[in-house]
Parts: sequence; structure tokens; C-alpha cells
Amino acid sequence: MKHDVCVIGLGYIGLPTASVFAGKGLRVLGVDTNPSVVSTLGRGEVHFVEPGLEAVVREVVNLGYLHVSSRPAPARAFIVAVPTPFHHESKGDPSPDISFVEAATRSLGGVAEAGDLVILESTSPVGTTERMREWLDDEMRCLGRNIGGAEVLFAHCPERVLPGQILKELAANDRIVGGLTEAASERARLLYGTFCTGEILLTDARTAEMAKLTENSFRDVNIAFANELSVICERLGIDVWNLIRLANRHPRVKILSPGPGVGGHCIAVDPWFIVDSAPDLARLIRIAREVNDAKPGHVVSSVKAAAAEQRTPVIACLGLAFKANVDDLRESPAVEIVRRLATADVAPLLVVEPYVSALPKVLSALGTRVRLTSLADAVSCASIVVVLVDHREFLGLDRTQLQGKVVIDTRGILRAR
Ligand SMILES: NC(=O)c1ccc[n+]([C@@H]2O[C@H](COP(=O)([O-])OP(=O)(O)OC[C@H]3O[C@@H](n4cnc5c(N)ncnc54)[C@H](O)[C@@H]3O)[C@@H](O)[C@H]2O)c1
Repeated sequence: MKHDVCVIGLGYIGLPTASVFAGKGLRVLGVDTNPSVVSTLGRGEVHFVEPGLEAVVREVVNLGYLHVSSRPAPARAFIVAVPTPFHHESKGDPSPDISFVEAATRSLGGVAEAGDLVILESTSPVGTTERMREWLDDEMRCLGRNIGGAEVLFAHCPERVLPGQILKELAANDRIVGGLTEAASERARLLYGTFCTGEILLTDARTAEMAKLTENSFRDVNIAFANELSVICERLGIDVWNLIRLANRHPRVKILSPGPGVGGHCIAVDPWFIVDSAPDLARLIRIAREVNDAKPGHVVSSVKAAAAEQRTPVIACLGLAFKANVDDLRESPAVEIVRRLATADVAPLLVVEPYVSALPKVLSALGTRVRLTSLADAVSCASIVVVLVDHREFLGLDRTQLQGKVVIDTRGILRAR
């Protein structure tokens, strides 16, 4: 049987996408190389937290619209949603790692046929969709097949959903669709039209790739501006939150919020893809990355300075996630701050993270210097309280509990009320 859609990579993006297509009655095959993902989904369960997703997956699996496998099979359309991290280079800037995209594309060598559509959803450096055509062509030739990559249609359709609201945003957000050819764009538009109620905007593949990188770089540059203001204001004795509130009363000014740095696997990663493509020209984008990456070090210095003033300091760190109200710790500046404080053995560290049940490996490996505990315990035992994430659980923090303690509030939640 030829499936309507085969989704390669069943993570935060691929699984909701596969489920939404299946929910519209398309016959979908989901593929993942991680055997535990395949077995979990095969039981109709999900392997990460996303509101509403488990119910949709259970339903489409039970109805037989979504099947899961560790290998691709013939389909009219293939959607690639595998990771695109960066390599941490020992010298120089980070560089994009598109090896997962290459492996996923090559895995289609034996199943893709002339006229099929291959869509890249992974956030990728400019030119990656063109390279997919070359990889597929090469793979088909190696397998001795008598069609080539050129007979397959390719498009890039970047994803811009917000974790926590993925199912809603998958349907409602406007989408950019960039084909290597106009025919590919049209086919991709028809496919997404099965569930997308937002506008579908057609362009070419390179522009679509750059658009996604641009969106995240825009956020990064603007957060860097807020973070730079926060350290300048600290030196000048000005409350940055109050400053931004006042400046934003200008009708054409909209400064974002500073924080302990920038995390997650998108905003902290994607700007490097632009820098890598044009290192001599992407000056502002690189500096913004550097400003944001320097912020955890600044917070660590402030905490160390406060601890040096005390005889027996105890530090409470509130939050580990990269942003509020999620369990996602990827590239989180809060984790990095706790790690650096623990490594420097500044003081005992009491960590509060309501969205995880255990410390991540990078922190548990540091032994008893870091303990995961409740908000009440951490706040009552600590002499220094560092707010790293504005989780809703912390917003009700009672200021009277913090009297006599040094408070370092990187999110401005304590003064917002
Ligand atoms: N998560 C988000 O909020 C978000 C938003 C927009 C864009 N993106 C982009 O979407 C892409 C996917 O991100 P994600 O968060 O879904 O990643 P993820 O790590 O949650 O999931 C990726 C999945 O792909 C699987 N995989 C890896 N190589 C494979 C292969 N060759 N064949 C089959 N499966 C394979 C992995 O086992 C994993 O389950 C990335 O490029 C990311 O930057 C993510």
C-alpha cells in the first residue's frame, strides 16, 4: 500500500504533524530510528508532554490512520522533521550539523518514486533542500534504481509552532512553502491545505530556508538588545524592567524582556546557521549570539559576588527550563548557570524545577552539591535566591519570605507586582 504521507522523525514537530494529517483521514506512516519512540507510539502513547497530543495519537493509531515504523515505506509525500543541531567547534563559531537530514533523505532512496513530494520541515541552512535532491539522486544511483532525485519534487516548509500550543498553531499559523520548482510548491500547498487554516505563502526553497532562520535571528537580536540594556542598567543603578516599561510607552518601541540568557534548540541555534553561511557579513547576528551567550556568565558573577559577602551562603536557583511553564531543558541558560556555580563550588545549591522529577545528567553528575527540592524548602533554607525562570509556580512568591536574603531576579518577576 502506498501511504498518503510518510513523516520521518517523530519528535516535537514530526509527531504532531503526522497526527494532524492522520486526523484528516490521510493514511500516514510515522518513522523514527529510535526504537523506544516506535514502541511507545505503537501502543498509542506519546514520549513527550504536549497538551492534547496523546488523545489525538491514541485515536488515529486506534483507527488505523497512523502507523509507526523504524523504516520508511512508499508514500506520495515524505516529510522530514529530524534534528538540525550545531557542532560545537573547539575553535571558531558553531557550525550546522545536517547529518540527520542527510541520513533521513538517503533512507528514502529505496522507496521514493518519480512524482513523489519530499518536504524538509527541519530548520536548515540555506541550500539544504537542494542538497537533499543531490543526496537522494546519489542514493538512488547507488541502489541501481532507474529514476533519479530530479524526478522527485522537493520543498522546504519550515515550522514555527510554539511548544505547549503545537496542535493549535499547526493549523492556525500562516505557513511558508518554498519549492525547488513551482510544481513542488503547488503540491506542498495542496498537502498542507488539508489541515492548515492559516495562509499558505509560496516562495522558493532558499527564501523559505532563510525566512525561518531570519525569524529566530530577529528574536535573538532583540533579546540581545534587552540583555545588553540589563547589564548596562545594573552598572548605572537603574531598574531595567521599569526602564523598558517606560520606553515601551513610545508608540513605535517594543523592547523585549531580558533574562539569564537565551535557550532552547531554536533561537540559540538557528542564528549560527546564518553566521556560518556569511561569516563576514552577519556581524550583528553574531554579536547578538555573543551578547546572549555571555549573560549566564554575568549572572554567575553576580551570584559569586553575593556569596563572597556571606559566611555560610546557601543558594536557591528557581527554574531550570529554557522558558516558563515547559519541561524543556535543551540549551537552557538556567542549567548552565547552576552547572557553573556547582563546578566552582560556590555554595550548596538548592534547585527548584516543578516541571521535572529529576536533575538532568549534567547536574546530577556533580553529586550532592546540587539538590532538587521544593520551592518552600529552597526559599526557607537559602541565603541567596536566584530567579532563573518565570514559571507560573514562582509568580506568587511571597516577598516577606525573601526578607533578609539576597535576591537576584533575572526575569523581573518579583518587581513586576
Ligand atoms: N520543537 C520545536 O518547537 C521546533 C519548532 C520549529 C522548528 N523545529 C525544527 O524541527 C526539527 C525537528 O525538531 P524536533 O524538536 O521535532 O526534534 P526532536 O529531537 O524532538 O525529534 C526528532 C526525531 O527524529 C528522529 N530521527 C533522527 N534521525 C532520524 C532518521 N534518520 N530517520 C528517522 N528518524 C530520525 C529522532 O529519533 C527524534 O525522535 C529541527 O530542525 C528543529 O529545529 C522545532
